[in-house]
Amino acid sequence: MTEAHSAKLAGKVACVTGSGQGIGQAIAIRLAKEGADVVVDDRVIGESAQQTVAAIQKLGRRAVTVQGDLGNPADDRRVIAEAVAQMGKIDILVNNAGVERRADFWDVTEQDFDFVLNINLRGTFFITQDFVNHLRATNRPGRIINISSVHEELPFPHFSTYCASKGALKMLCRDLAIELAPLGITVNNIAPGAIETPINKDLLNNPEELKMLLGKIPLGRLGTPDDVARLAAFLASDDAAYITGSTVTVDGGLLWNYQEQ
Ligand code: BGC
Repeated sequence: MTEAHSAKLAGKVACVTGSGQGIGQAIAIRLAKEGADVVVDDRVIGESAQQTVAAIQKLGRRAVTVQGDLGNPADDRRVIAEAVAQMGKIDILVNNAGVERRADFWDVTEQDFDFVLNINLRGTFFITQDFVNHLRATNRPGRIINISSVHEELPFPHFSTYCASKGALKMLCRDLAIELAPLGITVNNIAPGAIETPINKDLLNNPEELKMLLGKIPLGRLGTPDDVARLAAFLASDDAAYITGSTVTVDGGLLWNYQEQ
């Protein structure tokens, strides 16, 4: 089969938030492999965001950058407008940008709360609203894929702000799936478990904690960003046309691992 025949996303434009690193970077590149042109959005367009762009261009696809900090309400309202100005349209929005901050519940500050909730929830909410309004204005269907977490289900003590944001994304996905279905827009969440990315750098540098975590993952390894990216490419494609309002877990079995021994 030629590349053109296998390009499931040919003619599509995707915007991936936080695609300067980690899972977002892998998704941006994977969508390009499947034929999409890609808008690379990140808080800072630095060397790693440029690497995402270069990798996409090497695949023969268009890539442009939009600097936009989803934690900054003034910034996040510009991202879709700037992306559309550069690419002409967007078909697929991947809400990947996310942060976490560890703190005992009794020590969580308003700054911690705002930092995590503004990026993971508020920014995601309003960029999605802008994307939906773009689709409405151009009368086209679209795809929304949120990178949530196993912690939209699973408690994660000392990460209450993160859990609150991811639990909210679970409900937002289900609610928007219903409201936006008549517009031909599907909304799904991907819930990664422990993936080897910069968000986990403390854990990755702590052999004890890492060993304990690996013991809880039935498949016995951390996930790779591409484990998540392959699912995002599927959910963005026509193969997933009838899937909406779902969370798909990519966690090596972590979430439902229960054993009595
Ligand atoms: C968090 C990681 C954590 C993993 C598994 C992810 O959502 O970002 O810090 O290791 O879930 O608990």
